Amino acid sequence: MEVVITDHPEQVMADIIAGAVRGGARTLGLATGSSPLPTYRELIRRHNDDGLSFAGVNAVLLDEYVGLPPTHPESYARFIRDNFTNHVDLGDVYSPDGMAPDSSAAADAYDARIAEVGPVDVQILGIGSNGHIGFNEPSSSLTSRTRIKTLTAKTREDNARFFDDDLSQVPMHVITQGLGTISDAKHLALVATGAGKAEAVAAAVEGPLTASCPASILQWHRRATVVVDPAAASKLTAADYYRYVYANKPR
Ligand code: F6R
Repeated sequence: MEVVITDHPEQVMADIIAGAVRGGARTLGLATGSSPLPTYRELIRRHNDDGLSFAGVNAVLLDEYVGLPPTHPESYARFIRDNFTNHVDLGDVYSPDGMAPDSSAAADAYDARIAEVGPVDVQILGIGSNGHIGFNEPSSSLTSRTRIKTLTAKTREDNARFFDDDLSQVPMHVITQGLGTISDAKHLALVATGAGKAEAVAAAVEGPLTASCPASILQWHRRATVVVDPAAASKLTAADYYRYVYANKPR
């Protein structure tokens, strides 16, 4: 696992995605939420100013709220269109069907779809303050596949900011790629910023590999990069070592 501590996580993340796309990546895994927004803005800028093209590249989303139609401003299908995919020349964008009458069947169908359009070349990830990735809350099976999950009270509180701070508007259930599904990606790139993520980042990077911190699954992956700003890195005990390794990385 590579840990990159930088004042500009969006540049490092955009370099990873742009490098993969220029190297022939066919499928990107996209996260929603606030963490990857600066990365998406930078990728849009590179598309407009530097000729970065996503032609021939498809994308899969990590998760979706159950009960929100893709037109709802806070549905992840809408979020990713508004904040990224409508602004670049990406191909098809797939997401779980949060409105399906049978969420479990929709989850199975989505897992099969990812297998069909995958493998995902680079999976962008954020991290919840409780260590979740996708919406795999603590205690998620480390080999889980896409399925319906119940959000923890903490995650619903964290996400209420997107719903006018009205907790009652935050859905209780989601369909999320499982930790096993996420791990099928060739490269996992997690971005985290701000002191509020410091504890979760430290648990994911330096704690035990455990379902209690789903993001610790990155320790088990053959290619994982954790890109953090100094505030999110503030609880990493080996921060100096990660800085040293990155400064001396063979280019
Ligand atoms: C979103 C997702 C979540 C978020 C996490 C962090 O698709 O899968 O795991 O990445 O909840 O959210 P933010 O970035 O808003 O702090």
